[in-house]
Amino acid sequence: MPKSKIKGVGFYVPDKVIKNSDLEEIMDTSDEWIQERTGIKERRWVEGDLTTSLMGTYASKIAIKNAKISKNDIDFIIFATLSPDYFFPGSGVLLQKNLQIKEVGALDIRNQCSGFIYGLSVADQYIKSGMYENILVVGSEIHSGGLDKSSRGRSVSVIFGDGAGAAIVSKSNDESEILSTHLHSEGKFAEELAVIKPATTFWIDKIIDDGDEDGEGFFPKMNGNFVFKNAVKRFEEVIFESLNHNNYTSKDIDMLITHQANLRISQYIQKKLNIDDNNIFNNIMSYGNTTAASIPIALYEALKKNKIKRGDLVCLAAFGSGFTWASALIRW
Ligand code: UT7
Repeated sequence: MPKSKIKGVGFYVPDKVIKNSDLEEIMDTSDEWIQERTGIKERRWVEGDLTTSLMGTYASKIAIKNAKISKNDIDFIIFATLSPDYFFPGSGVLLQKNLQIKEVGALDIRNQCSGFIYGLSVADQYIKSGMYENILVVGSEIHSGGLDKSSRGRSVSVIFGDGAGAAIVSKSNDESEILSTHLHSEGKFAEELAVIKPATTFWIDKIIDDGDEDGEGFFPKMNGNFVFKNAVKRFEEVIFESLNHNNYTSKDIDMLITHQANLRISQYIQKKLNIDDNNIFNNIMSYGNTTAASIPIALYEALKKNKIKRGDLVCLAAFGSGFTWASALIRW
């Protein structure tokens, strides 16, 4: 059976830096609160005409270059986002248009913070089945335009940032391989972290009839403590699931990259798994929570800083809205 590997990674974040002190100006919050509760110091927010698919395109160009392939070698596109350019069509075909990729399939994934690992899993299965050889997997998000930036929305809006990451998943002819992926969801908690409008439950005509004047349902709503408790539990479970599946222990992990939801969550997992500081990478301090983009952005930076070398055991794990959660274990 063919094996798959991550051949190249890329990322893109907008230039505009929003520091915690900038948020202090527009809502009732403080740098101290944000850093203490989340670890975040700053995040990027888009300006001008930048779109989700365009940021994904910029990240993809870097991933394609790093994988040393041509865009013409790409057999399939997978685009993960909770903040697509349009209601439809999905951002995958827009990225295809931007990159001028030939008429390959383009699949959109809606699994929020777990979206990148879900995409990686789909790519892995297609390559293992022999169907494709080079798949572009993208996670890209623009949160900034959809946040409640008043004090009412402060517990959510201080967390999220904009950005994109991309990976080329290719057929492997060497020792590098995606060893396994594990995917989960628990729909009974769908509304614990959600944006519910506009969509078919609250379709435009109903919104107009209801007169949702303060726009509350349009903004992300999160039951923060509940999400936190579930996150730490599911992260730990799904990481152990991947280790057990491959007969490894947490001591074997050379690099752990968790979805950057909250630095306290990552530190809790690190402690639970007894992982050394050198074997975990966090960058939520600089970018906030970029949902589907956070893992490929962190992966790119960890590689750039030479924190991952060939042969390392790399573990990726995510948890988010849905609830959904997932892991991938990779021999780099
Ligand atoms: O990416 C998908 C997965 N997401 C997650 O896993 C996120 C999980 N949840 C969290 O990370 C945390 O729950 C938050 C960072 C969202 C919130 O932190 P918390 O420690 O759970 O705070 P809290 O919501 O319990 O609020 C504590 C206090 C409240 O004040 P009172 O009632 O104690 O007076 C809030 O009103 O902090 C207040 N507060 C703020 N104060 C200043 C909430 N947000 C802010 C803020 N600035 N931005």
